[in-house]
Amino acid sequence: MSSTGTLHLNIRTHKLGTPYSVAFPNFSRPEPVGCYSINESRELEDNANNAGYLRIPPQTDFPLDLNAGIEQVQRKPPEPDYHDIAQLCRYISLHPKLLQLQADVITFRGILRQIMGTPYERQKDYCLVATLFHGSIYLAKLETPEQREERQQMPSQQQDMCSWGFKFEQYCTTHDPQEKPITDVPVNESKEFACIYSSKLNGLKLLYGAEMDCIKSTQRLDLRQESQLRAAQFVELKTSALDMNFRQQRSFDNYKSSNWWCQSYLVGIGSILAGLRDPQGMLHEIKEYDVRTLHRNKPWSAAAMANFLYDFLHELKTLMAHLNTPEATVRLDFKAAQSQVYYTVLKDEQVLPTWYRQQLSN
Ligand code: A3P
Ligand code: MG
Ligand code: MG
Repeated sequence: MSSTGTLHLNIRTHKLGTPYSVAFPNFSRPEPVGCYSINESRELEDNANNAGYLRIPPQTDFPLDLNAGIEQVQRKPPEPDYHDIAQLCRYISLHPKLLQLQADVITFRGILRQIMGTPYERQKDYCLVATLFHGSIYLAKLETPEQREERQQMPSQQQDMCSWGFKFEQYCTTHDPQEKPITDVPVNESKEFACIYSSKLNGLKLLYGAEMDCIKSTQRLDLRQESQLRAAQFVELKTSALDMNFRQQRSFDNYKSSNWWCQSYLVGIGSILAGLRDPQGMLHEIKEYDVRTLHRNKPWSAAAMANFLYDFLHELKTLMAHLNTPEATVRLDFKAAQSQVYYTVLKDEQVLPTWYRQQLSN
């Protein structure tokens, strides 16, 4: 088995706007099997304290100023490589019953969404690292040099626009459904609430973490109880341009809507609430998108993206099996210009924390 090569994937055959006739794969409804909070130090807490409940501001509060308090915003600091997968390992070690699910792939919703977007991606490269451990492939992201540069060079105006999304979340969510949202404190963008989902794609068992924006409920739920977690109705919050111009509309139709669809579909969310803002960051109205109909009249195919996800993960699983080493690790580089995913076998890459490896091996 060569230590470098390409995954056998037909990326170039997919084009925006061309019909796709293959049926949607067998994708079981994702079930939440756990939840956790990420605190301001970006560490995992085994509780649901950071869960938010949806509370839409009254009409009289509009327009909402997304720049309010932006001078004091606490942005998410850059994290060391594999920090997020280490947090997921922490959760699994606290809830070892998750290992009984014998997942083929353990990862994050954001990574699955990234893979699903590949058939239509012609510009942006990405990099993932996969490591096999106790029969599961742990799949983590690695920042590419271009992504690092983009992050480090991001103009402050663009950083502020990113913060608008979090400020919108603050306006619409409360930790106690009986209380109004607290909107006069700086937003801390590091804090998160996340769920772990279990799903099956054409027989491949998936386990993945996903940050969740809010829950639609008038009562506080005990999300640590499996029945209440499963019954919780999650809603995705987004911001988008009010009165989109031609360029914005095309970008929404081609890419943004497919990202929204993938992100919500992967966690079984049915409704996206989009806050529509003007270029100055004043939010004028909220528009609801039904995830089930979001694909209509769009140039992308949901079936193409879901089938591609299966093909990618199946190829990866086959590759890992062929490497035939107990803790095989590969780096996967998607190169948009070549429409290829290259792999490189890594020798001494430490993806999973040592304590986790030791704990599971005992
Ligand atoms: P918008 O949704 O208004 O774009 P999410 O919607 O996934 O819950 O993310 C919440 C906000 O985080 C987004 O608001 C966006 O501003 C910011 N965000 C998400 N992904 C990001 C990324 N890769 N880089 C920078 N900001 C990001
Ligand atoms: Mg979110
Ligand atoms: Mg959101």
